[in-house]
Amino acid sequence: MNIKQIFENNRSWVEEKLKLDANYFKDLSKGQNPSILYIGCSDSRVTAEEMMGVQPGEAFIHRNIANMVPNGDLSSMSVINYAVKFLGVKHIVICGHYFCGGIKAAMEPADLGILNPWLRNIRDVYRLHKDELNSITDEEKKYMRLVELNVQEQCINVLKTSIVQLAVRDNGLTVHGWVFDVHSGKLIDLKINFDKILEEIMEIYRLNDHA
Ligand code: CO
Repeated sequence: MNIKQIFENNRSWVEEKLKLDANYFKDLSKGQNPSILYIGCSDSRVTAEEMMGVQPGEAFIHRNIANMVPNGDLSSMSVINYAVKFLGVKHIVICGHYFCGGIKAAMEPADLGILNPWLRNIRDVYRLHKDELNSITDEEKKYMRLVELNVQEQCINVLKTSIVQLAVRDNGLTVHGWVFDVHSGKLIDLKINFDKILEEIMEIYRLNDHA
């Protein structure tokens, strides 16, 4: 892909949009009203809008290595806060993907410098689910399962935040855990039973006295 080509692509994209609707960009500039916040991996094969079939303005998007929501990460926390409080999204999706390089790296003992603290969050997911993961003898299945468990834990991280707890209670906000299967192109809903998981841990994380 050369850079010049990108600008040519952009010109034809603008032309196509305007051919269908002369006011397309004028309308787009008026504001956004997305109902979904999508948090996914930066992986170039997992194209958020394209695989969900959503148009500009329909989904608020955040991507980082291995679709993480670490507690102290100002970037993802700001995105969640803004999307819930100011955009009023009704759904937050954490979307992982099989064959995720970030997950793979966290399963190996290599020292990756600045990436270490980021990947440490994934190693913590492994530790939480060590018994289940270590019981899987097939390495590929173990890798796939860690992708799924990481999605689950990042959803729980989302639910640990005060802003999400408030919106779940007052505005019907729901959290979803998905996996994109690069091998088939299919989007899979993990159908995580949050009620069951939260029943066990919310005594620790519930923030009743909202500021
Ligand atoms: Co990835």
